[in-house]
Amino acid sequence: MEQGKRLVYVCEGGDCSEKGSMELHGELKTMLAQQDPEGRNKLRRYPCFGGCEVGINVVVFPDRVFYSKVKKADLPEIVAHLCGDGAPVERLKGIVPKDVEQITWSLLDTGF
Ligand code: FES
Repeated sequence: MEQGKRLVYVCEGGDCSEKGSMELHGELKTMLAQQDPEGRNKLRRYPCFGGCEVGINVVVFPDRVFYSKVKKADLPEIVAHLCGDGAPVERLKGIVPKDVEQITWSLLDTGF
């Protein structure tokens, strides 16, 4: 990963897709293009984090912020986190089971 870059993963698994994750990905991409023209945040899709019941899941790495139950209405706050003062959106954190979150960091640490 390039120094100083942040990866933002939006789940594209079945459950999250049914809840609108592909549309959310598109919306986030547009917002980041406008508010992060230097491309400090790299948007990616992820096959499934295993926290399907609390989707839509959006993961910020290497910050280790795991957002769940994300809706389009939450995106301005998430973008403010990504492009603004860096404060995560607390109410969207800590929803997914801890073991799922741990596995996610282990996988991302190893490059998956
Ligand atoms: S479908 Fe999104 S976490 Fe599984």
